[in-house]
Amino acid sequence: MATYQAHETAVIDPGCTIGDGTRIWHFSHIMPGCIIGRNCNIGQNVVISPQVVLGDNVKVQNNVSVYTGVTCGDDVFLGPSCVFTNVVNPRSAVSRKSQYQKTHVGRGASIGANATIVCGHTIGEYAMIGAGAVVTKDIPPYALVVGNPSRRIGWVSEYGHRLSFNEKGIATCPESNQRYLLEGDVVRRIS
Ligand SMILES: CC(C)(COP(=O)(O)OP(=O)(O)OC[C@H]1O[C@@H](n2cnc3c(N)ncnc32)[C@H](O)[C@@H]1OP(=O)(O)O)[C@@H](O)C(=O)NCCC(=O)NCCS
Repeated sequence: MATYQAHETAVIDPGCTIGDGTRIWHFSHIMPGCIIGRNCNIGQNVVISPQVVLGDNVKVQNNVSVYTGVTCGDDVFLGPSCVFTNVVNPRSAVSRKSQYQKTHVGRGASIGANATIVCGHTIGEYAMIGAGAVVTKDIPPYALVVGNPSRRIGWVSEYGHRLSFNEKGIATCPESNQRYLLEGDVVRRIS
């Protein structure tokens, strides 16, 4: 028996798998074949298109459409009114339904309010996309990017704090005390 909760105005199409503890709010539409993990929060006026896969504890804020071709790992945050795309050269008169491009949002990544993700890119784990950014390239793990087109302005921890690396390339998150290593253009957590 399903143990997710959906508001009476939400529409859940057949053939979806929705994990325990997930909540779906007013006027949201979950389309056929979606797989939504446990303990997710799907806000108001959200569309999850066919075959979309969301991990556990994904938070989708109000007014987001997650199109076919998008996948999100666990603990992803999709800010209010952020925008995905799945066709890079749309034409109303030309069907491109067999050519949807893939976009993957890695575990723990956050997308700011009103940001746009041009399709065919990967947003690395724990990356932070600023409000209103337009992402046109792959984003590395732990990167902080802003602007249109988005540019990296720093690195962030898994708790979402800016990382300040010392001369040895080591930074400590002020909230979790977890340590990170910057080698070349790659950040990884080392404790
Ligand atoms: C990107 C973000 C995380 C940066 O926060 P921060 O580390 O505190 O950054 P600062 O405020 O110190 O800003 C650093 C610089 O980036 C610029 N900047 C910050 N956010 C920006 C954004 N979204 N777009 C463009 N530039 C931005 C600032 O103007 C500043 O520029 P300057 O150095 O020329 O003065 C934050 O601004 C942001 O956009 N958060 C997303 C909020 C959101 O959408 N939440 C959704 C849930 S409600």
